[in-house]
Amino acid sequence: MSDINVLTLVGSLRAASVNRQLAELAAESAPDGVTVTVYDGLGDLPHYNEDLDTEDAPAPVVALRAAAAQADAALVVTPEYNGSIPGVLKNAIDWLSRPYGNGALKDKPLAVIGSALGQYGGVWAHDETRKSFGIAGPRVVESLKLSVPSTTFDGKHPRENSEVSAAVRDVVGKLAAEVG
Ligand SMILES: Cc1cc2nc3c(=O)[nH]c(=O)nc-3n(C[C@H](O)[C@H](O)[C@H](O)COP(=O)(O)O)c2cc1C
Repeated sequence: MSDINVLTLVGSLRAASVNRQLAELAAESAPDGVTVTVYDGLGDLPHYNEDLDTEDAPAPVVALRAAAAQADAALVVTPEYNGSIPGVLKNAIDWLSRPYGNGALKDKPLAVIGSALGQYGGVWAHDETRKSFGIAGPRVVESLKLSVPSTTFDGKHPRENSEVSAAVRDVVGKLAAEVG
């Protein structure tokens, strides 16, 4: 049997992103039978524009939709910007929400986790990402949550925090169990 493929979308483009590191942790600690892929192309997407969303959509859009089509589930790992979803991630949600009613993540399970500087770890952004993706087509698994203040890591990679590592592994395992 082939592995369950989990596509991971990261809401920060920063090279030293804590959320990117959490995504790496999800990939390296995925249980047997689950492959987690961290998507690299969100920064290449143009701003959503219905005039561009044609049969001949821009290459970065085609690539994102192809990766989403191949995935069995999606994991979103994002910080919070100004109390909400970072623009780069919201833009990806909008591209993935089309074609209307038939986006590439339609009905696939999706979980949202992440880290931000504030004491609540970006929970507003995480709640709003769940709301927006819930409208865009995937099946958001509301019970799978993790919002960690980035101060928890004290500048170290999240893999060095055993509690957070266990929580990330748990989310990925439970997300994979939602497939099929
Ligand atoms: C434009 C901007 C807005 C931010 N707004 C918030 C915020 O509303 N709440 C919060 O907790 N942190 C906020 N932060 C701090 C981020 O949570 C912090 O920089 C975080 O580490 C970014 O994630 P990353 O390490 O994955 O890049 C903001 C950072 C930036 C650059």
